[in-house]
Amino acid sequence: MRIAITGASGFVGSALAATLAGEHEVLRLVRHLPGSGQARWEPATGAIELAGLAPPTAVVHLAAENIAAGRWTRARREQLRTSRVTATERLTATMAGWHPRPSVLIAASGVGIHGDRGDELLTEDSSVGQGFLAELARDWEQATRPAADAGIRVVNLRLGVVLGPGGALHKMLLPFRLGLGGRLGHGRQWFSWIALADALAAIRQCLVDQRLRGPVAAVAPHPVTNREFTRALARALHRPALLPVPAFVLRLLIGRMADEALLASQRVLPRRLLDTGFRFAHERIDSGLAAALAAR
Ligand SMILES: NC(=O)c1ccc[n+]([C@@H]2O[C@H](COP(=O)([O-])OP(=O)(O)OC[C@H]3O[C@@H](n4cnc5c(N)ncnc54)[C@H](OP(=O)(O)O)[C@@H]3O)[C@@H](O)[C@H]2O)c1
Repeated sequence: MRIAITGASGFVGSALAATLAGEHEVLRLVRHLPGSGQARWEPATGAIELAGLAPPTAVVHLAAENIAAGRWTRARREQLRTSRVTATERLTATMAGWHPRPSVLIAASGVGIHGDRGDELLTEDSSVGQGFLAELARDWEQATRPAADAGIRVVNLRLGVVLGPGGALHKMLLPFRLGLGGRLGHGRQWFSWIALADALAAIRQCLVDQRLRGPVAAVAPHPVTNREFTRALARALHRPALLPVPAFVLRLLIGRMADEALLASQRVLPRRLLDTGFRFAHERIDSGLAAALAAR
């Protein structure tokens, strides 16, 4: 296949481009002057300069402003929204105009779409939740509509927190290594995670499996509570994790992101992937963390 990737310089995108490169032709859609194996993409307009190249047969759209990169001020919320909703609408409108059109679009989304759901077991059929993050993810998924309307198979990949040598785990490591780790708030909130290798394998499955379309939860089959995750990470690092961070401290430090990203509970199961026979290399948190820490 000839696979275009947006966000190819990111944590997931760079690993994906590397893993696909052996078997497929990879075209990185970049926001700067393109080099070899790249084409210029302008997120604000959706313009893609293929410069005489044939359109890709598949697109993996991972680009977006990082949710955790700063406090959610009004300006930041607007950036998070524009980089997801507007960029996706324009990108998919461009794809719809290509001849021939790609057969598949895999578009990033997140389990945050479910909001804060306590102990409820969630699947792709569960409802959208409430809050900024949930509504953002809902609109982000809906922005893929132009591609679906043009007959392109669209997968909205609802990623859990991806554990690997980067991303969220990278930010957690320093306090845990210093023995300053601890549960967040009461620690009973569910944490839906996926090992990077499984996230990449799930994307590969979505590229070829015609049965997968619409929302697909990319999470390990055994989510854990924040308390369990804290214990597992401390175990993996051979450090104590005895210092819980109270909810009010998190709110003081990062504002409303605390409630929606760290204290919210999402207990998501990967029903669609399991239905297709997908096998996870890392089903349990100890295995996922061991792989992530070994890859560093
Ligand atoms: N990692 C996770 O745990 C996780 C969980 C749930 C959902 N997701 C979603 O999955 C996708 C990939 O995650 P990731 O961890 O690889 O993200 P990441 O490391 O933050 O990379 C995202 C990439 O998007 C591009 N980008 C950044 N700001 C942009 C903007 N304003 N407009 C257009 N492109 C922009 C950049 O790539 P270029 O410079 O190459 O354009 C960047 O490297 C993201 O959409 C993320 O929201 C990730």
